[in-house]
Amino acid sequence: MCGIVAYIGHREAYPIILKGLKRLEYRGYDSAGVALVNNGLNVYKKKGRVAELEESVVGKDLHSNIGIGHTRWATHGEPSDRNAHPHVSANGKLAMIHNGIIENYAQLKKDLQNKGYQFKSDTDTEVLLNFIEDIQRNNQCTLEEALRIALKRVTGAYVIVLIDAEHPDTLIAARKGSPLVIGVGKGEHFLASDASPIIEYTKEVVYVNDYELAILRGDELILKNLGNEKLTPYIQKLDLELAAIEKGGYDHFMLKEIFEQPDTIFDCLRGRLDATAGTITMSGVQNYLEQLVNAPRIIIIACGTSWHAGLVAEYVIEELCRIPVEVEYASEFRYRNPIVRKGDVIIAISQSGETADTIVAIEKAKEQGAIIFGILNVVGSSIARISHAGAYTHAGPEIGVASTKAFTAQLVVLTMVALKIAHAKKSISEELYSTLLKELHEVPGKAATILKDTDAIKKIAEKYKDAANALYLGRGYNFPIALEGALKLKEISYIHAEGYPAAEMKHGPIALVDASLSVYFVATKDTYYEKVVSNIQEIKARKGKVIAVISEGDETIGPMADDVMIIPEAHEIVAPMLSVIPLQLLSYYTGVARGLDVDKPRNLAKSVTVE
Ligand code: F6R
Repeated sequence: MCGIVAYIGHREAYPIILKGLKRLEYRGYDSAGVALVNNGLNVYKKKGRVAELEESVVGKDLHSNIGIGHTRWATHGEPSDRNAHPHVSANGKLAMIHNGIIENYAQLKKDLQNKGYQFKSDTDTEVLLNFIEDIQRNNQCTLEEALRIALKRVTGAYVIVLIDAEHPDTLIAARKGSPLVIGVGKGEHFLASDASPIIEYTKEVVYVNDYELAILRGDELILKNLGNEKLTPYIQKLDLELAAIEKGGYDHFMLKEIFEQPDTIFDCLRGRLDATAGTITMSGVQNYLEQLVNAPRIIIIACGTSWHAGLVAEYVIEELCRIPVEVEYASEFRYRNPIVRKGDVIIAISQSGETADTIVAIEKAKEQGAIIFGILNVVGSSIARISHAGAYTHAGPEIGVASTKAFTAQLVVLTMVALKIAHAKKSISEELYSTLLKELHEVPGKAATILKDTDAIKKIAEKYKDAANALYLGRGYNFPIALEGALKLKEISYIHAEGYPAAEMKHGPIALVDASLSVYFVATKDTYYEKVVSNIQEIKARKGKVIAVISEGDETIGPMADDVMIIPEAHEIVAPMLSVIPLQLLSYYTGVARGLDVDKPRNLAKSVTVE
């Protein structure tokens, strides 16, 4: 939610900031802006994409060696030029960008209005900025001191970056609850919401923690806590290549990321799974194996697509490990009074590692003594830092707003975790253990087979692109895949889609079925296969259109269905890693056929850092 970039050093700031904003556009894209300093502040902001900002500044004064930039996902105030960041303080000297939400902004705004402040925008950001300015004026103190005082009085989440037109040699930033990375260059510093705007210039980074302030000059980086104590910056080496964040010849990041899955699944297995030796090496699991094996209960916390991965894991862990599993929406868990008992293990799943609801839910469970095991894609992310242990998915940066390759990697990691627990617990036979290791080993090859020829899926997408509604049905391990297929379709194509357990259809949704309804079945060969075939019959009897994901060699469903998407046969526990791929492609091609921006669907953002 919202991308921020800032630069200070010896180069021109604007081109670095603009390029960085384009890389961060996945975080929000309803308006964008920059603030530069050249004998005073130059602030340019525009509703719309970064490209529109770029067009609007042609011929303007863009010279500056310091600058801040922002790409917005609106919270307070509609997307518009005046609500776009950076905001400028009432005295015209300070400019600020912000990612997050200031929860007590209404009271602060009222107090400031009583003092005569007028506001040019509807944002909480402008309130915080003028609050800082007011403190500075009243206390005759430095901007840094005013910021420290202000942050002790605000509630909410933020990353903010400030520049002062009268001190163009300094950038000041602070973080609580939203991500912030500093790039350390030679005589220059970069700031961004993630490392993608930075990697081109330096691989040395510092991840700023909550309640920390960074004071940056070209050749100086000072890190402090809110108590004004200096901290030693921990400089880390970035393990990220530029190619990983570029489209590499694909039309969209989403398509690139779908096609990367044979490699990302392989990378996720690499160095961990040895099917020949019969071993799974995962130090995060190994270090907490006793607690995992003896856990009276596992609670999985996640949102969106990651929550769907958690649902698949519920089936897998209960089957293999015989440990009760509950799968919770982080947003519900955090506001309930959840019961977490001694020994319970929380598995938190998050691609970004920055999802606000998931973070708070983890903190709540941690307070009650739970062990937190994170399954995350982004190294060094907030959730990685608050987890006791975990395993990375190693899917590489996921830039398309819809999660695809991170989801399949989450399934792979969760299955390996389940197998490791089950093996240690001896809750599965050696034979099943070896079979599943071998099956996992074969997943990258089978994923590549699905992706070898996607023409049939493209044709299906074009055939049903004008449907108003779609129903996705599956049972067992494939029920969460039905939910995921429906989520992908609705977010990418804006077609209303619902996922349901196939048998549950009779309890209501079947009323929707007529000749105009597309019903997608995830109907691979598994324990539930015969039952799903009956459900298909029930839809056909009511003239619904049936489109099914089936296993290679299935001769029963083909003649019954209107269209099929075929995947290689696989054990039912690994099948979801494959059955989701045609559904990802289907939503991608449907979105493209409907002329939509599949990488940046309306109203969405990649990293949901507000609740
Ligand atoms: C859907 C999607 C979202 C995310 C959700 C959680 O395609 O991407 O539903 O899965 O916002 O995000 P993470 O996994 O980063 O916590």
